[in-house]
Amino acid sequence: MGPPSAARPRVLSGVQPTGALHLGNWLGAIRNWVDLQNSHDTFFCVVDLHAITVPHDPGQLAENTLTTAALYLACGIDPEASTVFVQSHVSPHSELCWLLNCVTPLNWLERMIQFKEKAVKQGDNVSAGLLDYPVLMAADILLYDADLVPVGEDQKQHLELARDIAQQRINARFGGRDAAGESTPVLKVPEPLILKEGARVMSLTDGRNKMSKSDPNEGSRITLLDPPELIRKKIKRAKTDPVMGLEFGNPERPEADNLLGLYALTSGQGRETVAEACASMGWGAFKPMLTDAVVEALRPIQERYAQWRQEEAALRSVLLQGQELAAHVAEATLERVREAMGFLPRPRG
Ligand code: TYM
Repeated sequence: MGPPSAARPRVLSGVQPTGALHLGNWLGAIRNWVDLQNSHDTFFCVVDLHAITVPHDPGQLAENTLTTAALYLACGIDPEASTVFVQSHVSPHSELCWLLNCVTPLNWLERMIQFKEKAVKQGDNVSAGLLDYPVLMAADILLYDADLVPVGEDQKQHLELARDIAQQRINARFGGRDAAGESTPVLKVPEPLILKEGARVMSLTDGRNKMSKSDPNEGSRITLLDPPELIRKKIKRAKTDPVMGLEFGNPERPEADNLLGLYALTSGQGRETVAEACASMGWGAFKPMLTDAVVEALRPIQERYAQWRQEEAALRSVLLQGQELAAHVAEATLERVREAMGFLPRPRG
């Protein structure tokens, strides 16, 4: 039996609950999720199992998980339209990860750019989980027969790996043939969905590095929960260059490109309009405008976030409903893969 064809194309994506989400997570990923809710069958998980692939604080994990879920909703994910759940609440994620581990070549994982970057930061403390991170991510996606996976640019390589595992290691080895001799895949092969704008938001302190939750310098990122005064301070201190006028696409001026891009997105004016309006503007005039646009864009998110955190019972009930729906889909896929790989079916009581 192959993947069922859903009435609407499926979408799955997730964010790690490691500290407050930042403008990159929002503009590169979550903003895109919101737009897909009406046309697609959407699943969004808080990937807490991924969050323990680097040393973590057990006293913070549950709280960060709730914060991240509340931020999804605050950013416009509608629990009536989407399935919102916590990855570790649906055990097939870990189980499928194991099955995929056993067919994924080690050297596919060793060449992952994010692994190499993160491993350097961990020094002697690199866990097997960090290397395995993209296989768990493949399990997340493949369990839901996702057609599309909306992510930022940095996840492109992980998506290619998920496709290779599905196609070359599962479908090619364990897929069957139907009565007409056509091959029947076990797993759906997903496509990445990476937006042209916002897919790579850069650090405020270095326009050549991406904005990241793990940068030790908090001034490098604006989080979705930063109060207006802090946003003002961070933008005031953001790296600039001595050139007058802002522009897109000049490789010598990554900060101008990044901050002008942030302004285009948060003000809602679009790139052409802001490129024209800011072409001869100095940084001193530009920065307060950017600050106002970011503060205003985050205001409704922060208001809705505060409401969801006040209604924690409602938040937990969204996650319970999400867990039930997600488990239903995930268990069926896991069973399909177990069967294709030749496991003894689980006895039914
Ligand atoms: P995470 O938590 O690191 O990032 C979450 C999402 O935010 C995007 N992103 C960015 N986009 C633009 N500019 C940036 N500076 C920036 N930084 C992060 C990421 O591309 C991502 O879309 N491995 C995933 C989490 C994951 C996942 C999945 C995603 C686990 N399972 C299944 C999709 C499907 C990650 O990077 O998380």
